[in-house]
Order: sequence, then C-alpha cells, then structure tokens
Amino acid sequence: MQQEHYLQALGIQSFERRHLTCPTAQTTPDWDNLQSRVAACTACSLHQGRTQTVFGVGNREAKLMIIGEAPGFHEDQQGEPFVGRAGQLLTAMIKTIGFDRKDVFIANILKCRPPNNRDPNAEEVATCTPFLDQQIALVQPILLMAVGRIASHYLLNTKSSLESLRNKIHVYGENSIPLIVTYHPAYLLRNPADKKKAYADLLFIHKTLSKHHGESS
Ligand code: URA
Repeated sequence: MQQEHYLQALGIQSFERRHLTCPTAQTTPDWDNLQSRVAACTACSLHQGRTQTVFGVGNREAKLMIIGEAPGFHEDQQGEPFVGRAGQLLTAMIKTIGFDRKDVFIANILKCRPPNNRDPNAEEVATCTPFLDQQIALVQPILLMAVGRIASHYLLNTKSSLESLRNKIHVYGENSIPLIVTYHPAYLLRNPADKKKAYADLLFIHKTLSKHHGESS
C-alpha cells in the first residue's frame, strides 16, 4: 500500500487510513499583484543577501496551508519553500494524511533567507508578515499548520514550548482561522524519535480538517 510506504519512509510502522479530497489551484489577479510586490520588496535588510524571494507554492484554494519559518539555502536558490532535506520530509509527512504538495499551500513567515539561516528577528517578522496575511486572506484555508517553534511563536504571539502548543486547536488572525502546531521537519531530522508525535499531530490535523470540511460543505 502506497501510504504504508510513505510511513515507512518516515520511520513509522502503524497507521490509520484517512481520505480527504482537495480542489485544484486557480489564479486571481490579486495573486499576481501580491507576487510582484513580494519579488520587489526591499523593506528590510534581508533583500541584500537573497538570491530571490520565496513567495510560496501550491494550491491557491487549499484547505490546508502550511507555514514555516524562512527560506534556507536551497529555497533561496530555487525560489520555492521547503525544497531541501527538511522539505522532502515535510512532503513525506503530508503524504501520510493523503496530501501532495500541489494540494496544500506552503509559505513561510519570511520571504527572504536570513544570513546563515539565523532565526528571523522581530522587526523582520513584523515587516514581512503582512505578505503572509495577504496570502492567508487569498487562500482562505480551513486550517493553518504551523511547523516549528519560530512560526508557532510568531503566529500565536507566545513563547510557550512547542510541546505545550501541540494537540490543540488555536486560532490565528482577525478571521480566527484554526491553527495546529507541529514539529519542524528539520527538527525531526535531528530528533527522529519525535516522528511518532509528529504523525499524531498529522492525524489530528486530518481529523480537524475532515470535521470542518464536513461542516462547510
Ligand atoms: N525551513 C523553513 O521553515 N522553510 C523553508 O522553506 C525551508 C526550511
């Protein structure tokens, strides 16, 4: 079975099968405008060191929107979020609950790579997150999945441990969009023992999506 194969790739043996269908992508003029503004942005010093901005990728009508921290080396080179090793793991993670990359929308808090992959600072986040908010407003996802401590802390305006933020439905922004937190795939590469917990988070995400999707259809 294909899903079992993905789970094995994650190092997880047992699983439950779930199904969820997602619509295909659609472009609107607003997206073009937003994309050009991101590409031309020089609002903080990070533009000086970038190869290119990393806008975001995927289904612009996605039910699930994934939010990471910032582009790394490979993302800066290729102009797409989560394409390095961590990205490959993220792709494998979402496959366990039936999603391909093209089904979800993937973006970061920051659109430019910080030097040497250092953590984003508060000023950079404050300058850049209006772009993310506009992306969220355009996608109108049912659920946000924040990956890792940095994205979770900024989106939820908290310093609580990632562990304590897991397994809860938070809300984000004026429209109170449900948000669930899980581990960053780069962390999971360093701490594979926590992949089981990440899988539990993914099942929780799937269950939450199925519930909200059922309500909205
Ligand atoms: N880590 C992130 O948080 N985002 C990326 O796009 C790549 C690595």
